Amino acid sequence: MDGSPSAGALEARGRAEAGPPRGDARSGIGLRAPHADAILAERPAVGWLEVHAENYMGGGAGPRALAAIREMYPVALHSVGLSLGSDEPLNQEHAARLRALVASFDPLFVSEHLSFSGMGGLYTNALLPLRYDDETLGVLAAKVDELQTLLGRQVLLENPARYLALAASTTEEPEFLAALVAHTGCGLLCDVTNIHVSAENLGFDSLAYLDALPARAVQEIHLAGYATRRYGDCVILLDDHGSRIPDPIWRLYAAAVRRFGEVPALIEWDTALPDLATLVGEATQAEVVASAELLGARACA
Ligand SMILES: [Fe+2]
Repeated sequence: MDGSPSAGALEARGRAEAGPPRGDARSGIGLRAPHADAILAERPAVGWLEVHAENYMGGGAGPRALAAIREMYPVALHSVGLSLGSDEPLNQEHAARLRALVASFDPLFVSEHLSFSGMGGLYTNALLPLRYDDETLGVLAAKVDELQTLLGRQVLLENPARYLALAASTTEEPEFLAALVAHTGCGLLCDVTNIHVSAENLGFDSLAYLDALPARAVQEIHLAGYATRRYGDCVILLDDHGSRIPDPIWRLYAAAVRRFGEVPALIEWDTALPDLATLVGEATQAEVVASAELLGARACA
C-alpha cells in the first residue's frame, strides 16, 4: 500500500519502537456495572480495570462511578463500536466521544478490534471478519492513523475470534497485524482465547501464530473462557466470555508470556457474570502462570 503516515502515527510508531510502556504487568479484570460498588468498597487486589468505552459515552451514573474507581486503579478503554475495518470514513462523532473519555480518564490503554461491525447505515453488534489483503490494509491503516492522531496516543488493535476464513485473503492474520503495526505504529492487544478459538475453528497452529506476531508491539493480553458447540459432525468453539479460563488457554497464555515477556493480562467475562471474588481469583491465577514462566525463563538464561 502507498501513503505516508501522519505526524500522529509517526509519534505513535516512535513510542512503539522505543519499547512498550508496559509498566506494572499485574493482571486486571473487566469492570462490569454489577461489580462497581463492590470494587469501590473492597478495593480488590488487581492491577487495573478495563471497560467497554461505549458504556460510558452517554453520561449519568456510569461515568461518575468510573471516575471514583479511576481514583483507585488505572483504567483501560476498550472500544467496540468504531468499525475500523469498514470501507467508510472514520465515524467522527464516535471518535470524538472516545477522545472525550480519553481526556477524562487518562487510560492505561485504548484498544479496538481488527474487524468491522457496520456499513451503509447498518450496524450489527458483532465483530465481523475482514479480508486480509493490501486493500484492507490501506483502509484500516488510514483509519488507525487518523484515530491515533485524533486521540494523540497509540491505539491497540485486537485479533478477533473467527468462525470462517475469507478465501480472498492474500495473507494470514498475524502477518497482516505486523504490517498494520509497521504502517501505523499501533500496538497490539493479543487475545489468547481468540487465537485458540480461531485456531480450532479454522485449523491453524496457535503457537506458530504467536511466533508470527511482532512481539514488541504486544502491550496487552486478553484471557477469557469459551463455549464448545456441536452441530452434527461439526464442533465450533464460541468466544462467549462466560466461564473460567480453561486449561488450553492457560497453556497458550504461558506460551504467550514466553514469547512476549511481562505484558499486562486482562480477564474478560461478560455473560453469566460471576461474583467479584471469582474474577479476582482468575486474575491472580494469571499472575501465578506468568510468574512461573518468567522465573523459568530467568533460570534458563
Ligand atoms: Fe478480547
